[in-house]
Amino acid sequence: MAGTNPKKTTRADELLKTIFQYVVRIANERDVDKLLVNLADMGRDLVTADRCTVWLIDKKTEKIWSKVAHGIDRIEIPLSKGIAGYVAESGEHVVINNAYEDDRFDQQVDKATGYTTRNILALPIEDSQGEIIGVYQAINKMTGNRKFSKKDLEHLLLAASYTGKQLESLALQEEIESTQREIILTLAETGEMRSKETGNHVRRVAQYSRIMAESYGLDQKQIDLLKDASPMHDIGKVGIPDSILLKPGKLSDEERLIMQTHTTLGYNNFKNSERELLKAAAIVAAQHHEKWDGTGYPNGLKGEEIHIFGRLTTIADVFDALICKRVYKDPWPVEKIVNLFIEGRGKEFDPEVVDAFMKIKDEMVKVSIELEDATN
Ligand code: C2E
Ligand code: SIN
Ligand code: SIN
Ligand code: FE
Ligand code: FE
Repeated sequence: MAGTNPKKTTRADELLKTIFQYVVRIANERDVDKLLVNLADMGRDLVTADRCTVWLIDKKTEKIWSKVAHGIDRIEIPLSKGIAGYVAESGEHVVINNAYEDDRFDQQVDKATGYTTRNILALPIEDSQGEIIGVYQAINKMTGNRKFSKKDLEHLLLAASYTGKQLESLALQEEIESTQREIILTLAETGEMRSKETGNHVRRVAQYSRIMAESYGLDQKQIDLLKDASPMHDIGKVGIPDSILLKPGKLSDEERLIMQTHTTLGYNNFKNSERELLKAAAIVAAQHHEKWDGTGYPNGLKGEEIHIFGRLTTIADVFDALICKRVYKDPWPVEKIVNLFIEGRGKEFDPEVVDAFMKIKDEMVKVSIELEDATN
């Protein structure tokens, strides 16, 4: 690039540094929205544009959508509109250095935002099959003669090819995770099938823990993780003999001790996994019978030694055990359950988790009715 330029130009080593910084950040990004923002920022820096947007094609709705900045909702435009739409449909790349003289340019966005688009660089993003999955669009060159150059096009092409790979691997990752969730739910239901009346128990516990986690104030990612992992809390019961699991009356001391091993049995199923979901499942299996005051099992953990997933699942589990009929007990009235939690507040139950429960107990009751067991 010309050294005569009064504005700072991007030299090759700076370019490399920019790319490297983004690559590190982007490789660890699992959240699509954040990934889009990061990829857009990378493109903007690479070609010194004022703005950059990574658009994704939604085939079902025939729209392209994007996330432009944190806290702002998705923006969507019809596939047939504007430059981005043109690129998405034609697969051509487009360099426009005077937007208002180009018929394909849709002035609506400028009119709405009060922004003036001078020039646009836009190219298709393809997956490994060569199918167009999105559009990389840079707006308004900020340096040099303020026009996008052939070099800019090359740089953005590079970014687009990298972007295609990242988005594809993220989609793959999501597919793996959704398969995992299905397997886990199926496993958990199989585990519960032996005691007929608890058929919907795992589905209810998933909803209860989600509601509890929201009320307690966990972030969305943790809420989702707990919702998916909590159904596994009793998976260790598959290792408990029918004579104990299905006993209509009270358990003897010896039977109770055997029953209590379902926590450790469940934990052992998952403890060696590196996957986030299965790690969370290991925690709830191990800790859902621990108690705030240290009187629980299997390890007598106390207070915050018990993971918040464990403390939340306890309430979800006990609530369900009490509000439903079990082979060994009749359903309890809601007020009696609420009293148990209030009396146990700060003793067997985390006081803040009990407070979180009190705020949403009506919702919990609603779930218990919606997902009632057929035999109840
Ligand atoms: P579960 O049926 O899912 O019960 C989960 C937890 O709910 C119990 O953990 C306990 O904390 C609470 N819970 C259930 N019923 C009552 C109750 O009548 N009163 C009070 N205060 N709390 C109740 P826990 O006690 O560690 O039991 C773990 C699992 O062991 C139970 O899971 C159930 O599968 C089995 N179990 C416990 N007691 C008996 C029993 O007397 N007979 C039979 N057949 N199974 C039992
Ligand atoms: C367009 O693609 O025509 C609109 C460009 C913009 O986002 O301003
Ligand atoms: C049972 O009553 O045996 C099952 C209780 C549960 O699934 O937690
Ligand atoms: Fe349990
Ligand atoms: Fe349970």
